[in-house]
Amino acid sequence: MNKSDLRKIMANKRSRIPIKIRTSKSEIIMNKLRSLQIYNDSKLIFVYVSFRSEVETHSFINQALKDGKRIAVPLTISEGKLLLPCEIYSLDDLAPRTLGILEPDKDNIKEVNSKDIDLAVVPGLAFDPSGNRLGFGAGYYDRFLPSLRKGAITIGVCFDEQLVEQLPVEDFDVPLDAVLTNLGLIQSEKP
Ligand SMILES: Nc1ncnc2c1ncn2[C@@H]1O[C@H](COP(=O)(O)OP(=O)(O)OP(=O)(O)O)[C@@H](O)[C@H]1O
Ligand SMILES: [Mg+2]
Repeated sequence: MNKSDLRKIMANKRSRIPIKIRTSKSEIIMNKLRSLQIYNDSKLIFVYVSFRSEVETHSFINQALKDGKRIAVPLTISEGKLLLPCEIYSLDDLAPRTLGILEPDKDNIKEVNSKDIDLAVVPGLAFDPSGNRLGFGAGYYDRFLPSLRKGAITIGVCFDEQLVEQLPVEDFDVPLDAVLTNLGLIQSEKP
């Protein structure tokens, strides 16, 4: 199946998960994330700000800040479809932008150097056990992920319903080091 057909199916599937289940699974995923060694070892964590039916990250952000982590979130630049990692100190630093997605204030950003990011937590509509990811189809993450330093760890998070056997992959798709669902961590099998 091609990416765009799969996107429709997986977006539909995710949005049909009842909100209570999404919330409880999100909590399980984020607790697992916080229990990983890489979380402990990370000083600067890049994490998306969830919207609609995505795995919820708001409580994680609050908790990570309390744990003394530095947090950077995406600011999307539609021109060039770029994603800038910007540091926030509280969820109050965010305001609704395109499509109602919460983002840092464009006029007062504290962009971080991508090379300083230790861990990147990435959303998606679907993932496979090789760490391949299906996003919304604009390529934001495929452009952003190569800017991380070599030793940085990338983790895709999703509900178990979003795991598929194998995703279609194109040359520019950047696989992740691991996929974390409510059922556990899957470290990518490198082909
Ligand atoms: N490194 C890159 N440089 C330039 N264009 C790119 C790059 N990576 C991806 N693209 C472009 O982005 C488009 C969308 O890519 P793809 O279908 O993989 O989206 P996606 O990974 O699902 O989206 P997103 O990350 O925004 O959720 C592709 O048509 C591709 O041409
Ligand atoms: Mg892609």
